[in-house]
Amino acid sequence: MSTLKTLRLLASRKVAGFPCAVVGLAVVVVLSILFMFSYQDALAVGYSIRSTPPRYVFVDLGANVGDSCLMFLQDPEAPEKFDFPTPPGKKHSDAEIFLFEANPTFNTDLVDLKQKLKHRGININIFPSTPVWTESKLMTFHIDLRDRHAAGSSLLADHPSVVQSDKAVNLTSVAISQWLLQNFLPEDFVVVKMDIELAEYSIVSHMAAMGVGRVLDYMFVEWHHWIIDAADPRVAKSAEAVRQLEAEGVRFPTYNTMTKKRKRSV
Ligand SMILES: *[C@@H]1O[C@H](CO)[C@@H](O)[C@H](O)[C@H]1NC(C)=O
Repeated sequence: MSTLKTLRLLASRKVAGFPCAVVGLAVVVVLSILFMFSYQDALAVGYSIRSTPPRYVFVDLGANVGDSCLMFLQDPEAPEKFDFPTPPGKKHSDAEIFLFEANPTFNTDLVDLKQKLKHRGININIFPSTPVWTESKLMTFHIDLRDRHAAGSSLLADHPSVVQSDKAVNLTSVAISQWLLQNFLPEDFVVVKMDIELAEYSIVSHMAAMGVGRVLDYMFVEWHHWIIDAADPRVAKSAEAVRQLEAEGVRFPTYNTMTKKRKRSV
């Protein structure tokens, strides 16, 4: 049988009421489309793995009611202006924002802030009732009862704002050095603000020991030097840690905000 005859025969045959040739053509077209799509997917995946841009990240440790988040975003409602660094070509609102706050009193404030910002198209990640520490464990958090901002609340029972307070709550801490290492890369632009009522002395030392400098760019630390004895071993240890982190490229700009002025009344 010649090829021509075979073709004619096929063309005259029918499958489910359609000529064989039409059905064959349809099958070929469908298979080609499927192949093209999966090939494009494969291309797209390969492309995105190679070209994921560096992330811009703001991590707020001791977020309180979210004032410093609003400051970071340069929101008109922020109680004070502060220009946190941005990488070239990015705006503050491009940043991925993570707020950690231990004091459960502020849980609802943080949810409300997240909702308010979401309605403006900005997504923030909140960690309410979450103290940051060198390890993850159950810890007693002492609550400063003197004003709404409970500014002196601390993991450290010897903080002068809480020595008179009998209000405490047990919370599970986040091992913040590990969390930073787990989530970010050296090419990311990572800005950390830290206002954690004496816990900074232990945590900055721990960060240096854990090599967190590899993924950090800026550390805005509120050092509570006016409530710690200069001879306390934590002071010298953290100063050494800062030198090490600076040598690794982390910048420690001076950070004097309203929270400090507020706390001056301690
Ligand atoms: C926190 O846990 C400790 C140890 O289990 C316990 O002695 C203390 O009473 C707890 N404090 C609060 C405020 O629940």
